[in-house]
Amino acid sequence: MITVYDDGESLSRAAAALFAREARSAVAARGRFGVALSGGETPRRAYEMIADESVSARIDWARVHVFWGDERCVPGDDPRSNERMAREALLARVPVPEGNIHPMRCAEDPAGAARRYEEELRAWFDGGPPNLDLVLLGLGENGHTAGLFPGDATVAERRRWVAEAGAEGEGFARVTMTPVLINAAELVLFLVSGAEKARVMNLVMKPRRSAAPLPAQLIRPCPGELLWMADRAAAAQLDRHMVWHC
Ligand code: 6PG
Repeated sequence: MITVYDDGESLSRAAAALFAREARSAVAARGRFGVALSGGETPRRAYEMIADESVSARIDWARVHVFWGDERCVPGDDPRSNERMAREALLARVPVPEGNIHPMRCAEDPAGAARRYEEELRAWFDGGPPNLDLVLLGLGENGHTAGLFPGDATVAERRRWVAEAGAEGEGFARVTMTPVLINAAELVLFLVSGAEKARVMNLVMKPRRSAAPLPAQLIRPCPGELLWMADRAAAAQLDRHMVWHC
């Protein structure tokens, strides 16, 4: 089921509320909250709303650990950096300890960075299952999600948690969490906004093609949960029975 909101603003408000709720319940249940942030533009407003006192004050930031689902391998101060966006919109505005922030730094050596990030995650999970409490994802117009692009080897990854990746013509590499890790999460939330996403939303919700599923169709957390939140424009082409208007 996909929950549909009137516009980007109400979508972001709902995502921020969900973030706070999940953080509280993970901290209550397990003493910490591990979240993977997504890049792109869609989550920016939700991040700003999480940083707002009305939401932020409900979160025990000392117990929040921040990871990224993918990173563009550009310098940290580059406007295309996912880390930079999340710091500006959220992390610089809340009392999360710097030691709890786990950026994917890959401008130098993407393959090595992917290996090191996986080691960092393995240490964080300390031999336990890699079940992040929340993984936030976006959806690209070609069906990509995180740094998982159609036709790229990462889509077929069966073993590694983190891998170097890339999309043709972007001009930079990426490092991404693989479906192995994302599908082990307790909760995966896609945030989709804008009319330009309507066509691909419709494709992703159709039964997946066995030969070449879209990367977003590979996200099937088990035993975790999958949620989609979209605004009205992005959901415009979906069958009515698939959506829940909020
Ligand atoms: C990135 C992403 C990527 C993004 C989608 C949607 O680094 O670009 O993590 O998967 O979520 O491309 O991006 P928008 O929200 O900008 O449409």
